[in-house]
Amino acid sequence: MNTQHSSQFLMQNYARFPITLIKGEGVRVWDDEGKSYLDFVAGIAVNTLGHAHPEMVKTISEQAATMLHCSNLYFNPWQNELAEKLAMLSGLDKSFFCNSGAEANEAAIKLARKYFHDQGKAKYTVITAVQSFHGRTMQTIAATGQDKVKQGFAPLPQGFKHVPLNDIAALEAAIDDTTAAIMLEPLQGEGGVNLANIEYLEAVRALCDEKGILLMFDEIQTGIGRCGSMFAFQKAGVSPDILTLAKGLGGGVPIGAMMATDKVAASLSAGSHGTTFGGNPMSCAVALTVLDVIAKEELLANVEARSKQLIAGLQNIADAHSIFDEVKGDGLLLGLAANIEVAPIVNACRENGLLILMAGPKVLRFLPALNITKDEVAEGLDILGKSIEGLNL
Ligand SMILES: Cc1ncc(COP(=O)(O)O)c(C=O)c1O
Repeated sequence: MNTQHSSQFLMQNYARFPITLIKGEGVRVWDDEGKSYLDFVAGIAVNTLGHAHPEMVKTISEQAATMLHCSNLYFNPWQNELAEKLAMLSGLDKSFFCNSGAEANEAAIKLARKYFHDQGKAKYTVITAVQSFHGRTMQTIAATGQDKVKQGFAPLPQGFKHVPLNDIAALEAAIDDTTAAIMLEPLQGEGGVNLANIEYLEAVRALCDEKGILLMFDEIQTGIGRCGSMFAFQKAGVSPDILTLAKGLGGGVPIGAMMATDKVAASLSAGSHGTTFGGNPMSCAVALTVLDVIAKEELLANVEARSKQLIAGLQNIADAHSIFDEVKGDGLLLGLAANIEVAPIVNACRENGLLILMAGPKVLRFLPALNITKDEVAEGLDILGKSIEGLNL
């Protein structure tokens, strides 16, 4: 196996850390030198059940021996069942399956435009939040409210506007006759762990209803239990017309989903959109297992309990060091915001056996598997605290 930390054969589009991971079990991963790490990254909110969960291993091996792929020219029972399960869980009606978050958002943007096109209305603009992140395809970088992802890719697709999060007056001012949809992350992950407050989401829903605009929630990072409810919007009690999912849905197997109410979904008529791999038997069978295990192991309750523990521990660290401003986020998508750049802390943690992430230059981000135990959270906090102390910041 080639375990080098660089390769002339790979595009250099990732600023990777200098370790090569070769094995995972639960919330622990190992590198090629045999060193183990506690994994508070979970593949960026993907490994919902940690690594090598026995139920996932069983599903994957059984499904590989049964059917991996058969094309959307035909029905397959796993896709049917997953769509039904997601409808029951979310209250939305229909699903379109794809392979990633960006693809789910592409489908959402296409659906919003098609929905108004079908009514003969020239409504196409999608309003998103400043600091939002919606993916890396051309449409989704145009949708993303961060300039850094757009550099060098002009001309970008037209029809996107960005407004500050939690500012209803700014949103109202941005709406015009062309506005088709408002797309929001209930909790911004990549943009700095910024929570949309409930009053804001309620006001956005009311505004959308009043003006005939679609509300789309991008729950690619927050969905599938990460925030303590199956979907973050359920905590706020505000339902979208369109919902996008990916990451945690497959627990490590690539899958994305774009869901919508019946009324809106009707515009994605036969031939209007599609993908070769989306919704194949393997990805759907695994997603069904992820959802089953979340219920069977009562992981939503675990997320809430571990979240409280992690927040309390992070708060203690914040109180002890003036470089930190606040603990933010929800469930197991938490941030520790600093007034200095935090990359040295991420590196020190890794050297001491803990993988954590950043959300922008000054926010540490923690998003472990939903089945992390009390002892593992305590161990992670201990390594974090010692790593910070060792740096003398
Ligand atoms: C909220 C949100 N939307 C969309 C995406 C894009 O997902 P993908 O990388 O699977 O295309 C991400 C990825 O980080 C995300 O966090």
